[in-house]
Amino acid sequence: MRYAIEAHGLVKRYGKTTALDGVDLTVPEGRLLGVLGPNGAGKTTAVRILATLLRPDGGTATVGGYDVVRQAHRARHMIGLTGQYAGVDESLTGTENIILIARLLGMSRADSRARAKELLERFALTDAGGRAARTYSGGMRRRLDLATSLVGRPRVLFLDEPTTGLDPRSRTDLWDVVRALVADGVTVLLTTQYLEEADQLADDIVVFDHGRVIASGTSDELKARTGNLVLEVRPQREEHLDLVIQVVGDIAGVTPVLEGGQVVTGVTDPAVAPAVVRRLDDLGVVAAEMSLRKSTLDEVFLSLTGHRTEENPTAKEGALV
Ligand SMILES: Nc1ncnc2c1ncn2[C@@H]1O[C@H](COP(=O)(O)OP(=O)(O)OP(=O)(O)O)[C@@H](O)[C@H]1O
Ligand SMILES: [Mg+2]
Repeated sequence: MRYAIEAHGLVKRYGKTTALDGVDLTVPEGRLLGVLGPNGAGKTTAVRILATLLRPDGGTATVGGYDVVRQAHRARHMIGLTGQYAGVDESLTGTENIILIARLLGMSRADSRARAKELLERFALTDAGGRAARTYSGGMRRRLDLATSLVGRPRVLFLDEPTTGLDPRSRTDLWDVVRALVADGVTVLLTTQYLEEADQLADDIVVFDHGRVIASGTSDELKARTGNLVLEVRPQREEHLDLVIQVVGDIAGVTPVLEGGQVVTGVTDPAVAPAVVRRLDDLGVVAAEMSLRKSTLDEVFLSLTGHRTEENPTAKEGALV
């Protein structure tokens, strides 16, 4: 299999902070890799290295077969990048932003204009094309940003949290655009804090934490790894919580957690549920609610990293120690 993106043992340090601590990843041509990780995990650092914007302190990486350090110039021809913070020029109009990039890429005036028209159309920005980008909504800016990264028809696209801050509608619109790009054969590496986004778009997923890859696989593989199912039990009487925790823990063989008055645990064997019901019945404990369902990627992430996404604003500082 040919890899459009290949990284081995990437290391990056900032003073005492090790932002990347030996990262390996590969993305086959025409596939989408989702990179998940909490704040400060090293996602942007990895993207910047792979996009030739930052030199690693160790390890090697290639994009389209070109070394991102020694052959950065050639690698760059393959690459489009949409950064974590929108990179459009606010004072220019949408059309001007795209033309500027096209001209920088060496396209003729006429070609640049034609490309701008085409891209604005594709991103539903035709009507706004003549307006300064500063008047755009967050979603429009994101779309313009993505449009500018596509000017040079990149074969490899890096999207660093492309839908952060977007409303659900704009988010699903952008997902459609990304899907269309992948269908066209573009290879995409996308970082996200939204597990659903990775679930929706990614062929493969790697989970970063503290500058390392702590898990990788398809969404289903990751879910299977951490227990496919989730058992939730809410006793009718709160004073029974401890007993329920004990029973569930006993039968499932893992320590459950308490979440909003519910006893929650990941299980692999569905037979755990009826066994819990029988034991609780024997003990005279009535469950007001009880469910067995497939685990979400959110729960997988929680069990892998010990915290949920977007939850912990101090995680960045935490990662420094
Ligand atoms: N220019 C820099 N100088 C010093 N430290 C940095 C720099 N850039 C990143 N770091 C540190 O490196 C670590 C990884 O940061 P990075 O931005 O790659 O994380 P991230 O996964 O993209 O986080 P987020 O989800 O918040 O975007 C963090 O501890 C961060 O504080
Ligand atoms: Mg980042």
